[in-house]
Amino acid sequence: MSDVLVTRVGPVLEVLFNRPEKKNALTKAMYAAAVDAFHHADQNPAIRVVLLSGAGDTFTSGNDIKDFQSRAATNEASHASPFLDALSALATPLVAAVNGAAIGVGTTMLAHADLVIAALSARFVMPFTSLGLVPEAASSLLFPRLVGHQRASALLLLGDPMDAETAREWGFVNQVVADRDLMTTARHVAARLAALPPTAVRLTKDLIKNGRTDVPGRIEQELAMFRDRLRSPEATEAFQAFVEKRKPDFSKFA
Ligand code: COA
Repeated sequence: MSDVLVTRVGPVLEVLFNRPEKKNALTKAMYAAAVDAFHHADQNPAIRVVLLSGAGDTFTSGNDIKDFQSRAATNEASHASPFLDALSALATPLVAAVNGAAIGVGTTMLAHADLVIAALSARFVMPFTSLGLVPEAASSLLFPRLVGHQRASALLLLGDPMDAETAREWGFVNQVVADRDLMTTARHVAARLAALPPTAVRLTKDLIKNGRTDVPGRIEQELAMFRDRLRSPEATEAFQAFVEKRKPDFSKFA
């Protein structure tokens, strides 16, 4: 079975990260499948909404760390890059339903969603610095705007987790619901959007996002830095520690 399930439910395209045994860690193939789904939605006027969610107890644990390691070894281009471009350019409204951990790109991608519904179990973490990395998905630009400079610093510099209620308080998610109600609520929100006049909805989404002209440039700038960081000794130690299930030791770095 595919690691991303794409299901058409009337006017809604449901995109499910479906690799629960690896906490929905995102691989190159998964990014590519999501890109195809986004393009399909934008090219098909009968699709009014994209609904993104994760299978099992996690939204997604972010980029697959073993993929990070192999990319660092081969200096291959970013697997996430086409995904981030397609996500930030998506014209179809995007609703995200988040339960459990949303780590790294699992959180940063949500700054591009139009409406985010979180289960009480949702936990948003951007542990880039502790992996020797830098933020991506224009999160270094969007998070200070969304939640304020100091809060963004706690999230992005310290990698502090943000629980569902805090995320709602800070305006990062629209609504927090019991875990068992997550998909019903998210589908209800998607259905409300899908029932509205489609051109008015797409134009309004475009207007809301119009001010974000600096996003593509920041995505590119971050990814260039990210690519260098992937090969850094700090990141090498962090990835190896993850694979070996031990605490990383950064004491030797100047
Ligand atoms: N990349 C690769 N594998 C991952 C992964 C990731 N991002 N996240 C989880 N996995 C794998 C684990 O290695 C483990 O594999 P194994 O069963 O072969 O040992 C499996 O998924 C289950 O994860 P586990 O850590 O045992 O589950 P948990 O419930 O204790 O913790 C997380 C879940 C998501 C909190 C934890 O796995 C985690 O912190 N993952 C890394 C997140 C991360 O740093 N992502 C990169 C952000 S830039």
